[in-house]
Amino acid sequence: MRDDPLLQPFTLKHLTLKNRIFISSHEPAYAENGMPTERYRAYHLERARAGIAMTMTAGSASVAADSPPAFNNILAYKDEIVGHMGKLAQECHDEGCAVMIQLTHLGRRTRWDRGDWLPTVAPGTVREPAHRAMPKLIEDWDITRIITDYADAAERMKHAGLDGIELEAYGHLMDQFWSPQWNELDGPYGAQSLESRMKFSMEVLQAIRDRVGPEFIVGVRGVVDEDLPQGINAGEGREIAKRLTESGLIDFFNVIRGHIDTDAGLTDVIPIQGSRSAPHLDLAGEVKAQVRLPVLHAARIPDLSTARHAIASGKLDMVGMTRAHIADPHLVAKLVAGQEERIRPCVGANFCIDRIYQAGGALCMHNPSSGREIELPHRIDPAEAPLRVTVVGAGPAGLEAARVAALRGHKVTVLEAANEAGGQIRLTAQDPRRREMLAVTEWRMSECDTLGVSFKFNCFAEGEDVLAQEPQVVVVATGGLPRTDLGQPGADLAISAWDILSGDVTPASEVLIFDEAGDHAGLMAAERITAAGGKVELVSADRALAPEVMAMNLTPYIRALQGRDFRTTLTWRLKAATREGNRIKVTLGSDYGPEEEERLVDQLVVNSGTLPLDDLYFDLKGQSSNLGQVDYEALIAGRPQTLAPNADGRFKLFRIGDAVSARNTHAAVLDGMRLMRAM
Ligand SMILES: Cc1cc2nc3c(=O)[nH]c(=O)nc-3n(C[C@H](O)[C@H](O)[C@H](O)COP(=O)(O)O)c2cc1C
Ligand code: SF4
Repeated sequence: MRDDPLLQPFTLKHLTLKNRIFISSHEPAYAENGMPTERYRAYHLERARAGIAMTMTAGSASVAADSPPAFNNILAYKDEIVGHMGKLAQECHDEGCAVMIQLTHLGRRTRWDRGDWLPTVAPGTVREPAHRAMPKLIEDWDITRIITDYADAAERMKHAGLDGIELEAYGHLMDQFWSPQWNELDGPYGAQSLESRMKFSMEVLQAIRDRVGPEFIVGVRGVVDEDLPQGINAGEGREIAKRLTESGLIDFFNVIRGHIDTDAGLTDVIPIQGSRSAPHLDLAGEVKAQVRLPVLHAARIPDLSTARHAIASGKLDMVGMTRAHIADPHLVAKLVAGQEERIRPCVGANFCIDRIYQAGGALCMHNPSSGREIELPHRIDPAEAPLRVTVVGAGPAGLEAARVAALRGHKVTVLEAANEAGGQIRLTAQDPRRREMLAVTEWRMSECDTLGVSFKFNCFAEGEDVLAQEPQVVVVATGGLPRTDLGQPGADLAISAWDILSGDVTPASEVLIFDEAGDHAGLMAAERITAAGGKVELVSADRALAPEVMAMNLTPYIRALQGRDFRTTLTWRLKAATREGNRIKVTLGSDYGPEEEERLVDQLVVNSGTLPLDDLYFDLKGQSSNLGQVDYEALIAGRPQTLAPNADGRFKLFRIGDAVSARNTHAAVLDGMRLMRAM
């Protein structure tokens, strides 16, 4: 263990980092009024306590009012930030963890209708597709003003007691100057030479140095290869890194490859599940070989073996494991304790980052405590007295309930109808790109094993099977079955997306998918059918494609489907289906008017989520002490469930996950954990 390359200290200027693992800057969107308050601090402190060497806070903390928060970023241009960051830094320092912050001006990568409604600025006038603002071409007085803003923000962070700062230079103002693709200026900061394109960043760095002095640590997280036709290529990117190094103004370089102006680009910079492990590590290694500065990097280095390789091979000085720490904040503690196998793996679902845009805050798909450190702590306390708990169903909800119950010290039995655990996750994993999702249930199975949970597979539990266990608590986590009957005439002609995914039904040649749920299953079915040579029209009454899938998760589907026989029809709704020979005539209607359209297809697939499999729950309900009731106030406050309207009841009964109503994996594990942590 002592020889583990990951656990060797590293000296960054005067700062000793206790190991080689850091959390790279990322904005979980927990700020309140732009300030990192209690929730924000608790999030970083949890990881600091567990042994991370350095946490880089914020993501894109804004240095100026005309760089308004695109995703609830920290406002580093306000003086009150000093107190907040000071507190965060102090708390993490007390745990031996270094703290930095990422500062930036977003340039065109934000919206004008946020914050103070100032126009966005950039060295070019092209709209950034992801945020949609048309920037004003930056003027001389903007440049002067923003350089001072950077220096002011850096000084605030020094006053707050941080160990250093990192300047964001990929997709933001700084590298919008660097990039031949985006810099449209002429004059001293213009596109004509690399020197003029780097002039702005050099002046920012000089202004910062003048303000914070030579000792304060200043680094750049910069793009080395934009992977765009006219963008910065690897040769020029390495030259930029070299010139920054030779300027003597920076202390480390954090390597980025790719562009983030589109959802597709961002998905390669923060690689999603199904993409290669450590895809940009070699490029980072090339930068390290060239610059005489510490090199940092993070991009899908999710497991300790890859991280160890990154350090041992000398490609990196510090390895970022950011989402890995969202999934398991105690990763370093488990490494140190020799419990690597107990680390909850990040499955690369990018639910965390997609949510900062769609739902205003990062949550981990399968760790419900991340981002809820205060109200749903990661630590599970033992119960006062052990109970006999029977869980029915070994999908994500049931396994989470079983895991948490076992951590509480209860005696847990899980009954599962199938011959293995996984539930709906097994269907998801049919998509080779999403196979990693299996780890959501595999990790729980392994934990349950360690904690002594007993399992009975091939057991389709009826009421008497459950009662035979003499349980004190019964948790029904039986999931649901797909719904294809939306009340439309000819509902029996429809099959479900699951029928396609499971392989129970062979894809036909011409298929209409009516996607009501707007979740992964509809697109997965489309991918499966088109891969088999079928033609798919995906119809949805929504105004956007698959709204539950979210931006980065949509990317791999679009990449797979474009170029195949696939088209989408939005704002139309399935109205009826009738048989016509051996084909199906589908009538579409609209919520917007009386119009109707018809299609003739070979197969009609409906994706409309699931209906709960709740027979067992209703069989047992009358015999339970709580009659199935949940005290929501107690649930939210983390107090035990004490409702007992039926004095004759011998056990408490609850149902969780899709056995209640169709939701997602996060909702399933949250249900299981929230219920059992206070049981
Ligand atoms: C929720 C979330 C927000 C992020 N925000 C930023 C950001 O503002 N600035 C930044 O440089 N990187 C940001 N990142 C990217 C991470 O720093 C990191 O590069 C990325 O997650 C890949 O590393 P990983 O595979 O170790 O997670 C964000 C990542 C996540 C998950
Ligand atoms: S949501 Fe997915 S990508 Fe994000 S930390 Fe959790 S498992 Fe990893």
